[in-house]
Amino acid sequence: MKVGVLGGGGYTGMEVLGLLARHPRIRVAFASSRSLAGTPSPVPGLPYTPPSLEACGEVDAIFLCLPHGVAAHWVTDLREAFGDATPRLIDLTADHRPGSGNEQDAVYGMAELASHRMPEARLVANPGCYPTGVILSLLPLAEAGMIDPTRPLSIHASSGVTGAGRTPRQDLLFAEVADNYRAYGWGNRHRHLKEMRALLPGLPLIFQPHLLPLPRGILETLTVPVHPGTTAGGIRECWRGRYPENSSAVRVLPEGLPELRQVLRTDLLILGAEEVEGIDPPVVTVGAALDNLGKGAAGQAVQNMNAMMGWELNEGIRWQH
Ligand SMILES: NC(=O)c1ccc[n+]([C@@H]2O[C@H](COP(=O)([O-])OP(=O)(O)OC[C@H]3O[C@@H](n4cnc5c(N)ncnc54)[C@H](OP(=O)(O)O)[C@@H]3O)[C@@H](O)[C@H]2O)c1
Repeated sequence: MKVGVLGGGGYTGMEVLGLLARHPRIRVAFASSRSLAGTPSPVPGLPYTPPSLEACGEVDAIFLCLPHGVAAHWVTDLREAFGDATPRLIDLTADHRPGSGNEQDAVYGMAELASHRMPEARLVANPGCYPTGVILSLLPLAEAGMIDPTRPLSIHASSGVTGAGRTPRQDLLFAEVADNYRAYGWGNRHRHLKEMRALLPGLPLIFQPHLLPLPRGILETLTVPVHPGTTAGGIRECWRGRYPENSSAVRVLPEGLPELRQVLRTDLLILGAEEVEGIDPPVVTVGAALDNLGKGAAGQAVQNMNAMMGWELNEGIRWQH
């Protein structure tokens, strides 16, 4: 199948191109970048070209790895130009996610939860990186009635610097980030909260992100208020029922909490749960680790393409470094 990548010179675009270059069913027809046009892309033998509507008309699917707002314009222009023949679109931005106001236009592509809806989808909204770990860990527990919605649920999340994209910013200079660790977006105002709340209605989420002095990776530690009788073992069992190893990219630790080094440069999400002593009514600590550019972006986008085409969900994604 012929695919193209808009915004191929950014962090997510380069990661998508790297995966597609090795995907057995894919030929990458174009990798667009305005600033890198003429230079080599991650696909051997394919130089970057400036974004063009004409090139988009010649492929079966397009990954939109663009800034927020820019993707929505491209979707409008593509639909105007090609109508029903518009290629399948996988949007990595927030423009069509739940809470965006445009969500009715797209299928939300949390791959493990929505793959049955994908074959009909013409536009898939790829989830945000932080929400991927939060929603995949909490939604099965909420649906199983394990979470007590009357108490706050605290999410302490940390991301590597690529999470902010490749456009230069003073607060992301090496000298500002190295040897440092800080919170940002405090006050429960991070834009990813809309997406989490839309999928987890009724849970009082407190989401506090932090900036890790590392290029990539997300570690999330959640303090989950549970109903009496809910144990860490029961939570692991619930996840295992939902995420079979052979048909999902989610792994459940038999004990302990996940570490970043287990997921860096992979497309896996690793979950763990542990009891908390001395708190009544009870809480459980849940840990989620993923690579923001892997399962948090490109890996999930490739899973969504696979699901749209009716291919095996995990074809072409990475299990190991
Ligand atoms: N970084 C992450 O961990 C992550 C994870 C999940 C989702 N996302 C989302 O994915 C999207 C892309 O993120 P990113 O980190 O890859 O961003 P990025 O590194 O800033 O890359 C954005 C790309 O879009 C191109 N571009 C910018 N304005 C454009 C325009 N008007 N028309 C055409 N191309 C334009 C850029 O410039 P050139 O054309 O010059 O190359 C670049 O290639 C964002 O919406 C982000 O929120 C990011």
